[in-house]
Amino acid sequence: MKIVGGSASLALAGAMSRELRADLVDVAFERHPGGFPDRERYVRLLGPVAGDHVVIVQSTFPDPMIVEYFLLADAIRDAGARRLTAVIPYFGYGRQDKRFFDGEAVSAKTLAKHIALDADELLTMAVHNPDILHLFPIRAREVSGMPALGRYLKTADADLLLAPDAGAIRHVREAAAVAAKPYDYLEKERIDSYTVRMTPKKLAVRGKSVAIVDDVISTGGTLATAARELRAQGARRVSAVCLHGLFVGAAAETLKALEEVVVTDTIPSAYTKISVAPEFAAAIRALG
Ligand code: R5P
Repeated sequence: MKIVGGSASLALAGAMSRELRADLVDVAFERHPGGFPDRERYVRLLGPVAGDHVVIVQSTFPDPMIVEYFLLADAIRDAGARRLTAVIPYFGYGRQDKRFFDGEAVSAKTLAKHIALDADELLTMAVHNPDILHLFPIRAREVSGMPALGRYLKTADADLLLAPDAGAIRHVREAAAVAAKPYDYLEKERIDSYTVRMTPKKLAVRGKSVAIVDDVISTGGTLATAARELRAQGARRVSAVCLHGLFVGAAAETLKALEEVVVTDTIPSAYTKISVAPEFAAAIRALG
């Protein structure tokens, strides 16, 4: 088995190659210093993959990383790989999982269809709606990253773990089981893409350090609103431990409402402190 990391996921690809004791194939992402002036992506495999089972690790954020994924997959197939496993730690476009209005693209299906042209199977993590996995004409599985958050939370300054909305209860429950810590949840109402409202709900947080557990940070609005509600109820410290950190727009500023924000390496950033490599490595071993 060989691992190829796209430029969105190089650190995770390296960690997975160590976990799996598989060679990491070097890739050039620029043909000349500075790349193409119009910023088009470029890839060149610098090692052989003919006859190999190859695992591409590449999140689809930001958008140019989708093009880069397709370039890598095509280059790997052209180079004669025997089997191609797509590990897409963060799978974007999952929110457009159906046609809400006539004439719309079902974006999740569009990506699924094109990924299946070259890949034999797909592994991803915390997709917006797990039902989109049925849109793939190949085997597609969701790998949980919550055990990784749970391992981190076990020794973190956190008395109580909290889901910011009912939809995240399945996540916090799993992380809490690994961390061996209690959990609760808030009730969130989404007004629009940038605004959320928390329904006041009495929580036993007075004097406690609360860690919010969620799948995605986009604008940071959910976390900031939850942090204000928790402080109003007497929480001593509010932190967040999440899987995917998109940090859109002014998120860094918005997130100053929390004492600490930690995310995983599904999308690398200055907030990345946790690796989900063990989770993906175990899932690849289980593929057989
Ligand atoms: C919502 O369903 C997700 O679990 C996140 O809570 C949400 O996507 C976070 O978005 P934002 O950071 O923009 O509030």
